Amino acid sequence: SNCRLCGPKARVVARHLRVEFGGRAGLAAAGVRGRCQCHGHAARCAARSRPPRCRCRHHTTGPGCESCRPSHRDWPWRPATPQHPHPCLPCSCNQHARRCRFNSELFRLSGGRSGGVCERCRHHTAGRHCHYCQPGFWRDPNQPITSRKACRACQCHPIGATGGTCNQTSGQCSCKLGVTGLTCNRCGLGYQQSRSPRMPCQRIPEATTPLATTPGASSSDPQCQNYCNTSDTKVHMSLRRYCQQDYVLRAQVLASEAAGPAWRRLVVRILAVYRQRAQQVRRGDQDAWVPSADLACGCLRLHNGTDYLLLGSAAGDPDPARLVLDRHGLALPWRPRWARPLRRLQQEESAGGCRGLKSPTPSPRAGHP
Ligand SMILES: *[C@@H]1O[C@H](CO)[C@@H](O)[C@H](O)[C@H]1NC(C)=O
Ligand SMILES: *[C@@H]1O[C@H](CO)[C@@H](O)[C@H](O)[C@H]1NC(C)=O
Ligand SMILES: *[C@@H]1O[C@H](CO)[C@@H](O)[C@H](O)[C@H]1NC(C)=O
Repeated sequence: SNCRLCGPKARVVARHLRVEFGGRAGLAAAGVRGRCQCHGHAARCAARSRPPRCRCRHHTTGPGCESCRPSHRDWPWRPATPQHPHPCLPCSCNQHARRCRFNSELFRLSGGRSGGVCERCRHHTAGRHCHYCQPGFWRDPNQPITSRKACRACQCHPIGATGGTCNQTSGQCSCKLGVTGLTCNRCGLGYQQSRSPRMPCQRIPEATTPLATTPGASSSDPQCQNYCNTSDTKVHMSLRRYCQQDYVLRAQVLASEAAGPAWRRLVVRILAVYRQRAQQVRRGDQDAWVPSADLACGCLRLHNGTDYLLLGSAAGDPDPARLVLDRHGLALPWRPRWARPLRRLQQEESAGGCRGLKSPTPSPRAGHP
């Protein structure tokens, strides 16, 4: 016991005593037999306790009031003097902890203002003053810090988020690529849900991805062997080649959708018609049709939102009114420097330049020997 003067003898005597202590009274009582030393923090001894205990005030505790109560350890304990009670001061734990400990180093660093460190912060709070939230929780700005609901669980989605912790001020969980939402519970713009837990949201094929979507097929697929020559990308545009085309257009692909298993319907905006076909092609928005296999094998590489020079030679299509683009034609990403030579070829054609040059149908494939 820290009750320095509470020896066995004092204990016996104290049984019969009710003595006033504390302050001057304490000093005055020093001469009384069985005195109880309370460091000036008690006015009296508890009557029936063995050994005798002080009835501590000033938020002190212990048989001789020799320490601060667990909630009041912001300042170092000191004995009361006749001039000053030197009470123990409460720690500021924002009502989340009942205990704190005194840290003399922090007290010194604070310039003698505060040295308490809260212990066992509750309600998912943490920190010296239980003033922020534990990992996995975030600070709800609608609640005061003293509220039991000041810290809310992150609730990060087990699949969409990279972990269970979130930004402590915004509650934003850390999402996997393509995932969005405070808890990472949905796919972001341009992404769609997939079955992969590692990549729960995958990019929706759009402007920068080819329109070809036939599953399984690709230019390396055996079905695509000799179906078209995808490697041949150099096109030498001569008057002869120009004249061999069914049509020569500049067009922008606006959208595309599957039209049955064999075809894909494109919405194209015809920006310029260089070589007109027998069944006139008008400028403006309209449908164009592409065999799905020709896209899947990579014979034609078309991207949504892109301008192309379309060289068409869809021979033998049952409906001559439809605009068809297939593997015998070409779709080349548009280069502005092509505009002038194409206009020149167009003029030569209208001057009768194609007469005698045009090969019999079906037209040979442009760009290939
Ligand atoms: C947490 O969110 C706030 C506000 O949105 C932001 O200012 C801060 O940089 C974020 N912190 C981290 C670690 O991302
Ligand atoms: C592809 O090119 C090769 C030679 O370059 C030719 O033999 C073959 O017929 C071509 N295939 C098609 C489908 O044009
Ligand atoms: C194609 O791109 C346009 C914008 O460039 C967009 O509005 C449209 O939704 C896209 N369509 C498809 C099918 O991706």
